Amino acid sequence: ATERTLSIIKPDAVAKNAIGDIIARFEKAGLKVVAAKMVHLSEEKAGGFYAEHKERPFFKDLVGFMTSGPVVVQVLEGEGAIAKNRDLMGATNPKEAAPGTIRADFAETIDANAVHGSDSPESAEREISYFFGNDEICPR
Ligand code: CMP
Repeated sequence: ATERTLSIIKPDAVAKNAIGDIIARFEKAGLKVVAAKMVHLSEEKAGGFYAEHKERPFFKDLVGFMTSGPVVVQVLEGEGAIAKNRDLMGATNPKEAAPGTIRADFAETIDANAVHGSDSPESAEREISYFFGNDEICPR
């Protein structure tokens, strides 16, 4: 089925000037960008986004990293978009990411791991509405 998923190009990948390379991978895989914006997240916005990790030992570092520079937030649309995006990204830890995946090619550490992608239809719905109003999404 056609799905939507939330993608974030994280501060490390933005700093590497890899925005275009990463979006090209989404487009080449048949995913369409139907919403996009660049934002420098506040601590509150980043902490709310990752609220499910609040009690994890890495939460503080995660929020610190995600607020360290601008990010590019997008909604990707396509057949099986959630799983397709996760395949393109590779494993959370770049050291375990398969060759040719975004994290294998652009990420260095589990914190600075280049991209985020929704992990389920439920989280996709929550994450998309966390960043975009309906009037900011352009079906195509
Ligand atoms: P992301 O998909 O954005 O979701 C939560 C992020 O926390 C994850 O990517 C990693 O960048 C970061 N993180 C840091 N340490 C861990 C860990 N031990 N397990 C999972 N995620 C971690």
